[in-house]
Amino acid sequence: MSATSGSFHIDDKTVEFPVKVGTLGPPVVDIGQLYGKTGTFTFDPGFMSTAACESKITYIDGDEGILLHRGYPIDQLAEHGDFLEACYLLLYGELPTVAQKADFDYRITRHTMVHDQMNRFFSGFRRDAHPMAVMVGCVGALAAFYHDSTDISDPQQRMIASLRMIAKMPTIAAMAYKYNIGQPFVYPKNDLDYASNFLRMCFAVPCEEYKVNPVLARALDRIFILHADHEQNASTSTVRLAGSTGANPFACIAAGIAALWGPAHGGANEICLRMLMDIGTVDRIPHFIARAKDKNDPFRLMGFGHRVYKNFDPRAKIMHKTCHEVLNELGIKDDPLLDVAIELERIALHDEYFVERKLYPNVDFYSGITLKAMGFPTTMFTSLFAVARTVGWIAQWKEMIEDPNQKIGRPRQLYTGAPSREYMPISKR
Ligand code: SDX
Repeated sequence: MSATSGSFHIDDKTVEFPVKVGTLGPPVVDIGQLYGKTGTFTFDPGFMSTAACESKITYIDGDEGILLHRGYPIDQLAEHGDFLEACYLLLYGELPTVAQKADFDYRITRHTMVHDQMNRFFSGFRRDAHPMAVMVGCVGALAAFYHDSTDISDPQQRMIASLRMIAKMPTIAAMAYKYNIGQPFVYPKNDLDYASNFLRMCFAVPCEEYKVNPVLARALDRIFILHADHEQNASTSTVRLAGSTGANPFACIAAGIAALWGPAHGGANEICLRMLMDIGTVDRIPHFIARAKDKNDPFRLMGFGHRVYKNFDPRAKIMHKTCHEVLNELGIKDDPLLDVAIELERIALHDEYFVERKLYPNVDFYSGITLKAMGFPTTMFTSLFAVARTVGWIAQWKEMIEDPNQKIGRPRQLYTGAPSREYMPISKR
């Protein structure tokens, strides 16, 4: 393949396809005309070698362990900015000025309440319903309330829907948690920042004043930044595919929440903590490492490995640091789960099986320990991931809708089923 074209040889034909080179990362061969010119599809289940779209939002270099949002390294955004600044950057493409940030914070804050009739949805769920089940239902139902922001052809409505989603996700997630534990819902307060508001909506009770711990609020805000967007991962690709049909943004985000729930994706943080609890003590680690390596055992080391990162997930490093900050702030000196996690990481990073397959800790490895220490139940971990990832889903959805070349996503297949055959009446079968 030259820098300008890629040749495709099939039977006695050779067809050239244009090569597109991006700002960073691998070039792509544009094979949009492949079927038309050769009658052949590409075959790439799991999209191991497929770029599904062009995007300017996030770039990952899996070999170098680099994550950029609109060109800014994740560690700098997490260190110097806050989550709503990262949201502005993902949505608009540039870091906000002081005035733009103040306006954005104001607009998001004043969309944090949900329609009061939504409260009734919750009573239809069992108390022990998983918060992600509740969020899929409630977020999809937002389309039943906000008819004035479902026309995706109207830029104004797209932006209002985007602000509403970013603002209301914490409220819905907190309501799911409160319903689960049988406590009354806590309304957002406009004088609190995004993370502080979420902590208060989750942990305040009507019987006493709730005092936000600034160290925990800052840690949670940083955790939201780490989870905000991540290129074309499974849930983002789900949102893009749903959005390509013209479905309203609330329905698309509900689809993204459903995809994120899977244990191989956003559900890994919940399963990872359960795995650390199952391991329990450092001396049991070798047994679980052996299971992770056993092809006949479906067990995997949760929080390890990544489709793109073949080096450290940069988010995992920041999460590890945040984990220590939170445990220190809470006076948790020796958390056995942290001891297990650190020893598990040390052993795995020296084990041939993991080294050969370039399996490193990902963003989910330390997040569970951190969130558990902050008081969140394991079942809420993926919901927190969904709260943070909403801005990424929305930014990617908006980019797709605003792409003049956007088409409905409709992959083809390699058919290996039965050839055409005549119907057999049941009396003759
Ligand atoms: C997220 O895509 C994103 O960006 C996702 C995410 C985001 O921000 O949106 O980063 C968030 O989803 C992080 C990943 C969370 N998932 C987990 O922690 C679950 C555990 N990890 C694995 O299930 C796995 O690593 C995946 C799903 C993350 C990636 O799977 P791939 O890329 O399809 O790789 P694979 O399954 O083909 O694995 C390659 C090899 C296999 O061995 P061989 O067949 O070559 O012998 O590595 C092995 C796998 O068996 N392997 C593991 C392993 N992960 C991969 N073996 C043991 N434990 C693991 N965790």
